[in-house]
Amino acid sequence: MAERRVLKMGKPVLRRVAEPVREFGTAELASLVEDLWETMAAAGGVGLAAPQIGVSERVVVFGMDRHPRDPGLPPIPWTVLVNPILTPLEATKSYDWEACLSLPGLRGRVPRYARIRYTGCDARGERIEREVEGYHARVVQHECDHLDGVLYPQRMDDLESFGFQDEWLECELDPSLESSAAERDSPVEGI
Ligand code: NI
Repeated sequence: MAERRVLKMGKPVLRRVAEPVREFGTAELASLVEDLWETMAAAGGVGLAAPQIGVSERVVVFGMDRHPRDPGLPPIPWTVLVNPILTPLEATKSYDWEACLSLPGLRGRVPRYARIRYTGCDARGERIEREVEGYHARVVQHECDHLDGVLYPQRMDDLESFGFQDEWLECELDPSLESSAAERDSPVEGI
């Protein structure tokens, strides 16, 4: 078990479609999952995908007890999701800030499906099926995009909100983009 380096945008593995896991319950998969948890915790993230530590396999981890910017949000169960399949449950998309551990210091407002079903397996091959909404749905969509070589700027439809978090105070954006001073000032958690 070891903390691994989080690879940054530009690494080819982050643009690659990752391979499905074919064998469950193996020592290799358990070790990968431990490394993902340890690396995510060290980085203070809410989620992490295997390609972000250089492993091109369809494995993500995510979870949080309390949302840093909105403590009122429900917690996200600590989850290992292997070979995920996502299905939007309605066409509606919502916008919120995202940051990614592979694009340190940056953030942007990203449209995501508001409600999704996700299925997959845990590391032992036990089936997972959930219907989720809001921030939980956003995190899963962000992580699973990593498995298809997609980073969040590729999902943005307006790059005006894309930028470095620490420059935000000096930004002269349309004020309607920013819902509150608290949101503006608190860093967006990496996923
Ligand atoms: Ni990410």
